[in-house]
Amino acid sequence: MTAPAGATAASSVLSTPALEVRDLVVRYGRGRKARSSPPAVDRVSFDIAPGETLGLVGESGSGKSTIGKAVLGLQPPSAGTVRVHGQDITGMSLRERSRRVADLRVVFQDPYSSLNPTRTIGQTLVEPLRLMGVSGAEAVQKARSGLESVGLPGDAVDRYPTQFSGGQRQRIAIARALVCDPKVIVLDEPVSALDLSTQAQVLNLLADLRDQRGLSLLFIAHDLGVVRFLSQRTVVLYRGQVMESGPADAVGLTPRHPYTLALTAAAPVPRPAEQAARRNAREAAGFGMASAASPGATGCPFVPRCPLSTDVCVEQRPPLRLIDQSSTACHHAERVPAL
Ligand SMILES: Nc1ncnc2c1ncn2[C@@H]1O[C@H](COP(=O)(O)OP(=O)(O)O)[C@@H](O)[C@H]1O
Ligand code: SF4
Ligand SMILES: [Mg+2]
Repeated sequence: MTAPAGATAASSVLSTPALEVRDLVVRYGRGRKARSSPPAVDRVSFDIAPGETLGLVGESGSGKSTIGKAVLGLQPPSAGTVRVHGQDITGMSLRERSRRVADLRVVFQDPYSSLNPTRTIGQTLVEPLRLMGVSGAEAVQKARSGLESVGLPGDAVDRYPTQFSGGQRQRIAIARALVCDPKVIVLDEPVSALDLSTQAQVLNLLADLRDQRGLSLLFIAHDLGVVRFLSQRTVVLYRGQVMESGPADAVGLTPRHPYTLALTAAAPVPRPAEQAARRNAREAAGFGMASAASPGATGCPFVPRCPLSTDVCVEQRPPLRLIDQSSTACHHAERVPAL
């Protein structure tokens, strides 16, 4: 079943979206076995407006990185399209992208493995600029000012990654993404490997850079609270499918999907009383208990974990439908308890 038009995560975008993902399907592997197993990403659609941050949230294995890789051309989609400012880049090779698509860059999760330890910071930052045809002296100057824009000294160009902490390395990875002056950045769990206080600093830096430069961000995380801090809108993913999408506050505070409600368990709340109230509401509704039901091939993927599941859930994949401000793929969204 295809999600109905208008039930995508699209906002009221009037201008051409900075990033547009339509009916994306990604399958790993080849052959009959790959075709018969569920895809890693299953008909996902969303838009990101210029200057907007979209948070993509879900547990490990839900398909977040696969979506990021498909957007970046690192994993070919089985179906669907990816457009940047209206330009279809779905089938564009990495080589072609490095020359032509300066608008789209990435920051990965692991600040230790994402920087080459044998190259100076300057060499790492200059490389994408050289591929774009920027001359040597100008590229070094851009690398210096890129480092300064993330709060590091320009002379860090002469040093190596091992001379920096995890938080500093992630700033360098952000500077590397920024030097080409992109309009869209994919951030795949950029703060997950950092301690809490460093996380807050990097999130604040990202928010400042976004506001100063009008960046559009696809911000991937497994923590709903982190996503809410930075995003205007949130898309909740489970087993490759969109479960819920809508304004970040609506999704975070009044979840309409049982899976989003379950995710709130993993999102820390600073006030213990609120945390306890949320936990009680979830437990009273039976969330967190295993269910005997198994998911049908055509039904809702959340059936085995859902206390609200009925026969219709096993048989029919629920379409996304608009309830209040959020689109929700649940047959029984009206029965989901308030937080
Ligand atoms: N290179 C790969 N080959 C085969 N399966 C993969 C590969 N990468 C990811 N997967 C599978 O695709 C699904 C989604 O993974 P991923 O996109 O990494 O999820 P997330 O980023 O949300 O943790 C998982 O079931 C994972 O095992
Ligand atoms: S459709 Fe059914 S099984 Fe799926 S989340 Fe909703 S109530 Fe639960
Ligand atoms: Mg991932």
